Amino acid sequence: MQLIDGKAIAAQIKKEIATEVEQIIAGGGKRPHLAAILVGHDGGSETYVASKVKACEECGFISTLIRYEEDITEEQLLYKVQELNNDPDIDGFIVQLPLPKHIDEQKITEAIDYRKDVDGFHPINVGRLSIGLPCFLSATPNGIMELLARYDIETKGKKCVVLGRSNIVGKPMASLMMQKSLPGDATVTVCHSHTENIAEECRKADIIIAALGQPHFVKADMVKEGAVVIDVGTTRVNDDTRKSGFRLCGDVDFDNVAPKCSYITPVPGGVGPMTIVSLMKNTLLAGKREIYK
Ligand code: GUN
Repeated sequence: MQLIDGKAIAAQIKKEIATEVEQIIAGGGKRPHLAAILVGHDGGSETYVASKVKACEECGFISTLIRYEEDITEEQLLYKVQELNNDPDIDGFIVQLPLPKHIDEQKITEAIDYRKDVDGFHPINVGRLSIGLPCFLSATPNGIMELLARYDIETKGKKCVVLGRSNIVGKPMASLMMQKSLPGDATVTVCHSHTENIAEECRKADIIIAALGQPHFVKADMVKEGAVVIDVGTTRVNDDTRKSGFRLCGDVDFDNVAPKCSYITPVPGGVGPMTIVSLMKNTLLAGKREIYK
C-alpha cells in the first residue's frame, strides 16, 4: 500500500508556481492577483479563505480579501462582483460559499465573469469541462487528477466509482475521469443516495473516489484488493483532545481499508491540500490569460 501524500505534492506544486511567477515578473509580466469575497464568519469558510490567502503568498501572487457582514444584500454583493469583473488588475476571484440564505448562490455564481471564475463553478466552465474544452476546472476534482497523474496511477480502461453527485466534486470528477485523455479514459459509475447496493458497485471498482460527506462510509468489505481509494471527505467531528475542538474525518474507514489498497489518500493531508493548489493553478492560468484571452 502506498500513501498518496497530497501535502508534499501540494508544496511541490506551489514551489513550481512560485518559480514560474518569478520568471513572469523577470520578463516584465504581471503578478497574478486573486480576490476572495467572504461573507459572514462561518468557521469553515474563515479557515478555507485564510489558507487561500496564505497559498497566494507562497506562490508569489497578490491577494485581496473582501469581507462583508451577514446582512449584506444580494444587490450589494452583485454590485461588488461586477466591480471585480471590470477591474483589470484582478485576474480571478472567488465568492466563498456557503452564502447567507437570503442570497441566491446560483445568481452570484452566474454573475461572475467566466473568464475570472477560478473556482470553475460558472455554467460556461462546467459546460466546457463536460465537452472537453479548455476551462477553469473545479478545484477538488482538478487536485485529484493531479494526484493520479503525479503518482502515475493508471486510469485508462479502469472501473472508477464516484460516490456522490455534487456539482463541485462528484459530477465534474465523473466528467474528468471519463474524458478522452489521461488521466481519464476510465469507465465511470456515479453512486448516490438512491443507488441500490452501493457496496457491490464499490467492490467492482479499480478506483473509488469517495465524496459523500459521510464519515467512514467506505468499509473494508466494499473495497477490492489492490484498489486505489481517494477520500474527499472532510467532516468535522468533535475532539476534545484538539485545541480546535474538532478533527477532520474522511469518508473512508482508513485503518481497515488501507491494507487492501494499492494507493490511498489520508485525511487530512490527501486531497485537501491539493484543492487549494488547484485554485492557485487556475489563478496562474488566469494571470497568463492562458485559457481565455
Ligand atoms: N466552499 C467550499 N469549497 C469551496 C470552494 O472551492 N470555493 C468556494 N468559492 N466556496 C467553497
